[in-house]
Amino acid sequence: MIIHSLEWKDNKLYLLDQTRLPGTYVYLEYSDYLKVADAIKNLVVRGAPAIGIAAAYGMLLAYQNLSRDCQDIATIEKRFLYAADTMKMARPTAVNLFWAVDEMIKVFKNTKLENIYGALLRKANEIERQDKEICSRIADQGADIFKGKKHLKILTHCNAGALATAGIGTALGVITRLHQHGQLSCVYVDETRPLLQGARLTAAELVSSQIPVRLISDSMAADVMKRKKIDAVIVGADRIAGNGDTANKIGTYGIAVLCKYHQIPFYVAAPFSTFDFSISSGKDIPIEERNPDEVRMVQGIYIAPKNIPVYNPSFDITPNELITGIITEKGALKDLERISDSHYEARKNIEAYILLNGNTIYLMAEGRLVNLAAGDGHPVEIMDLSFAMQALAVSYLCEHEKELRPQLYLLPRELDEKVAEIKLKSMGYEIDTLSDKQKEYLGLD
Ligand code: MRU
Repeated sequence: MIIHSLEWKDNKLYLLDQTRLPGTYVYLEYSDYLKVADAIKNLVVRGAPAIGIAAAYGMLLAYQNLSRDCQDIATIEKRFLYAADTMKMARPTAVNLFWAVDEMIKVFKNTKLENIYGALLRKANEIERQDKEICSRIADQGADIFKGKKHLKILTHCNAGALATAGIGTALGVITRLHQHGQLSCVYVDETRPLLQGARLTAAELVSSQIPVRLISDSMAADVMKRKKIDAVIVGADRIAGNGDTANKIGTYGIAVLCKYHQIPFYVAAPFSTFDFSISSGKDIPIEERNPDEVRMVQGIYIAPKNIPVYNPSFDITPNELITGIITEKGALKDLERISDSHYEARKNIEAYILLNGNTIYLMAEGRLVNLAAGDGHPVEIMDLSFAMQALAVSYLCEHEKELRPQLYLLPRELDEKVAEIKLKSMGYEIDTLSDKQKEYLGLD
């Protein structure tokens, strides 16, 4: 049985109160966006994709209320944007929150006043529906990695399941698919202190789906990896930086380190919208620090001195070099390019990004993902491409093309200046039209 974390019905949002699971199963009703922001803050709804969907409906409620109270578009816009800022302040780490609110702002700004409500409703519905589909595709992509393998023992952390999404989950979606394919022997679930999302939520989801599960305390992970011969770890993500560094529930980093020692593949499963291409590395991901009582207490009972000073970061960063692959709905990214900060700075200026997935090259620009290698029919060996060439390609796309050109020709690294010039000309570009920055990338100055 799939548990639904949220539902939009009769112009109201209903959230399953996850703070009371697994004991009590109750939906709370919301018609005020401020209460939705509080629900996100207090983990009534949690998990990156579910937070994003709840925030989108929260923005719909904001519009519903403020369009009732005021008529002129300038005031409505001011208040809508204020509501958006408030919503974004609910939690700092999961990028899906910011992404979803920005999607709603875009719709608001691009729609005539009389159509705004309908357009916002359609957008929130679409974000929810797409998340469902994305989960399913992530599950398929993830299952592909384990093709032909049997009796798998997988370890997971926190909750990246149905409760954290609108569908079957991300990490837990892959695990569910493996179970459906008869490839799973057992899932080991870390309880995930301090708030026990593993014990309260993931364990409950797995039991309800009749998937074989063993609950372990966080401190048992190393021993379980060694003695139970874990085949892979799969976790979710709250934000993935441009270089692949990943923020997820506190404890994830430790597990990735353990995987390295035990030579166990460590996978992150997440929708593409979890990538934050505006930041270069994990060090720029804001990490939420939560109430010290979450550490001092378990389920409302003090297990430590009441005033003991506490450090309570809710997330940690797993560096890209510890991640075997990032499973997205578009494929598993196994060779995320390791880029230095200075290279990244150059790319940031051109507001685009190239993702490398095996032999396939994707260009991420203007919110679209394009497979660059597909067009000319010759998959390009990633190692043959220098950063300079990629940057040139991207900068051309951004500066000269309104429509992205999937068939863009990519130049091999060994090109000298002359050949580069000829190639560029054959592509219809003149060297003297290059900006100084582009020439610098190419070493042409
Ligand atoms: O604090 P939470 O419960 O919101 O943290 C959730 C996680 O860390 C999940 O692993 C992550 O959001 C991915 S959910 C598909």
